[in-house]
Amino acid sequence: MKSEIRTAVFPVAGRGTRFLPATKASPKEMLPVVDKPLIQYAVEEALAAGAERLVFITGASKRAIEDHFDSDPELEKLLESQGKSELVRQMRSVLPSYATCIYIRQPAPLGLGHAVLCAEAAVGREPFFVHLADDLIDAEVPCLKQMAATYAFHRGSVLGVEEIPRRDTDKYGIVEVESSRAPISRMRSIVEKPKPAVAPSTLAVVGRYVLTAGIFDQLRQVGRGAGGEIQLTDGIARLLHREAVYAHRFAGKRFDCGSKLGYLQATVEHALAHPDLSHTFRQYLLHLSRNLPRTPARRPGKATKGATARKTRRRA
Ligand code: G1P
Repeated sequence: MKSEIRTAVFPVAGRGTRFLPATKASPKEMLPVVDKPLIQYAVEEALAAGAERLVFITGASKRAIEDHFDSDPELEKLLESQGKSELVRQMRSVLPSYATCIYIRQPAPLGLGHAVLCAEAAVGREPFFVHLADDLIDAEVPCLKQMAATYAFHRGSVLGVEEIPRRDTDKYGIVEVESSRAPISRMRSIVEKPKPAVAPSTLAVVGRYVLTAGIFDQLRQVGRGAGGEIQLTDGIARLLHREAVYAHRFAGKRFDCGSKLGYLQATVEHALAHPDLSHTFRQYLLHLSRNLPRTPARRPGKATKGATARKTRRRA
């Protein structure tokens, strides 16, 4: 069956300050996990869920994303002349021919809600996906595809959610649902980054949304919220008083590639699953773990325990 959700929006305007200097001149969405950039995992997930129109909300230093999804006849010619036909095939399959890319510049860094509002003219009045490439999700059925099925059944907006430790509630949008145990439940409320003591639950929104066009009407009316930004969460908080909005605990494993630790975990696990690397990389890890010292070597002047692992969760 052809999907009724044809458009996916990728907010990619953030500067990626947590990965500086790597992200000084190139987008954080182009950071590779083994051999594919994060944005390609994102696009593949959206295509697998039926999207055909890909809307990128871009900002400064993001040209590499446009280049990545553009064809590169010169490179293909070079690879062909070297007899590297498998690589040519891979280059051509970065984007299927039926998919269209639209690039919209977010004029100022006013937040995720503002970025989504920038997509309005391209989306029209149809339901659409929003995908945050920092959250890489491995799943047998791609996460957005699971959520599209929920939309098809309930006919309302759907947010991808997962349980997180209470100490981390101030890093996510947190939802309150009607039935806390059900995998899919209607939402009662949502709040952006509440302190652990006042969070309504420990069910956090990860970077996957199916939204109805009603969100645009709400986003136009929200003012600046947490962090002085126009928050998507605040738009959704208004939307759920007008339409049913659902929280979907998707099946799959999420890596927070917006943090160094999560990015490294994704890299290691994807390398272990990569057909060309899995055997030798596994041998290497086994060798490494047998020879690891009990305590990490201290680097003079550097903070140690936990200092890099705890992330700030701002879409930087
Ligand atoms: C954004 C959203 C937040 C959501 C998170 C998921 O926050 O505002 O509600 O939980 O993405 O990754 P950010 O990570 O941009 O600070």
